[in-house]
Amino acid sequence: MQSLLNKKIVLGISGGIAAYKSAELARMLMQEGASVQVVMTEAAQQFVTPVTMQALTGNPVYTSQWDSSITNNMAHIELSRAADAILVAPASADLMAKLSLGLADDLLSTLCLARDCPLLIAPAMNKQMWEHAATQRSAQRLLADKVALLGPASGVQACGEVGFGRMLEPAEITEQLIAFFQKKSLAGKRVLITAGPTFEAIDPVRGITNHSSGKMGFAIARAAVEAGAQVQLIAGPCGLSTPLEATGQINRTNVLSAKEMHAATLNASDYDIFFAVAAVADWGIAKPAKEKIKRQGKQAPSLEFTANPDILADVVKTVKTKGGKPYPYCVGFAAESTDLAKHAEEKRKRKGLPMIAGNIGPDTFGSDLNQLLIIDGSGSKKIAKAEKLDLARQLIQLVAKKI
Ligand code: CTP
Repeated sequence: MQSLLNKKIVLGISGGIAAYKSAELARMLMQEGASVQVVMTEAAQQFVTPVTMQALTGNPVYTSQWDSSITNNMAHIELSRAADAILVAPASADLMAKLSLGLADDLLSTLCLARDCPLLIAPAMNKQMWEHAATQRSAQRLLADKVALLGPASGVQACGEVGFGRMLEPAEITEQLIAFFQKKSLAGKRVLITAGPTFEAIDPVRGITNHSSGKMGFAIARAAVEAGAQVQLIAGPCGLSTPLEATGQINRTNVLSAKEMHAATLNASDYDIFFAVAAVADWGIAKPAKEKIKRQGKQAPSLEFTANPDILADVVKTVKTKGGKPYPYCVGFAAESTDLAKHAEEKRKRKGLPMIAGNIGPDTFGSDLNQLLIIDGSGSKKIAKAEKLDLARQLIQLVAKKI
């Protein structure tokens, strides 16, 4: 799935060492289906050449407002008119100051002033420059002018210092640009999600777990952030990175056992929606050994199990109503080996859920693809086989209409 298909992006590059990452960024935007038109300041060309950017994007690179190859010689109008968004990465302290004051003394700054499309900037500079009151003033002014600031991140900088000012990674900028274009159907909503498997310890090195990659739950988390929600993601052990982390709209709590996952959902009534996507182990080990059970000279141990709490059922018990609608709106998941529709509907009723999503087909575990059978009180609907992120976006839209 290409999330930027048919989008025309003007990629502005200003002068900073992070400009070397703009080449990778251009490539990623194109992989998502965008066409990329690069505009570079004079300083940017000290760090990366127009030839590099031209070779990657397949488009001529513009560097001057006095370029006679553009119709009417009005590059600033022509380029911004064609764009769905202008993305400046890296945005230097100097460029931010200029944009915040409405100065327009080169092609990129003129283009930003003359635009009638959204402007997103990814600041990149030394920590002291970022923290300087003047830059912070620029950032506040730009935010007030509805310019979206992507980052900066904190970390080790090219100058050797550690702190805020580092440009977000190209993958994070791409993820945020994609999010920017998604419908904000959950703006202001709070979403709680359980994802991945749980792990029930037998001893300090062994345990039992469920089959789950966590990909569907993480895709729902990403789609919810894209839709404007504030997300709490409770993740079992799955090794996936947190989606859209740099937006500040997502908080992740890692857990191991079903009991830990249960404890992390105790404030579920603070949320508008609860997606129970985790493959929770129904039973834990009654008395996990404190030390590793040695194999030598011993027979295979027999394990005594104890029932784990049903997290979803306990959240359902806390549901209240607001304006005649239940909150949190609880969505369960069902992975069945037979009779999906029958078992899922039975599960929906037994757990008192307004909606359940059944995983169709045996090949969903670990795959990037899935297909869902959505059942609510009014009937059922299939969402055809697609990437999990695509399914997650469709599911979010369905739920958004319900709340
Ligand atoms: N679930 C949960 N806590 C549990 C077990 C399940 O929150 N201890 C949630 C899952 O996240 C999922 C839904 O309940 O949203 C259904 O999970 P599933 O394992 O399919 O159902 P069970 O209730 O465990 O029933 P069974 O194993 O008999 O199919």
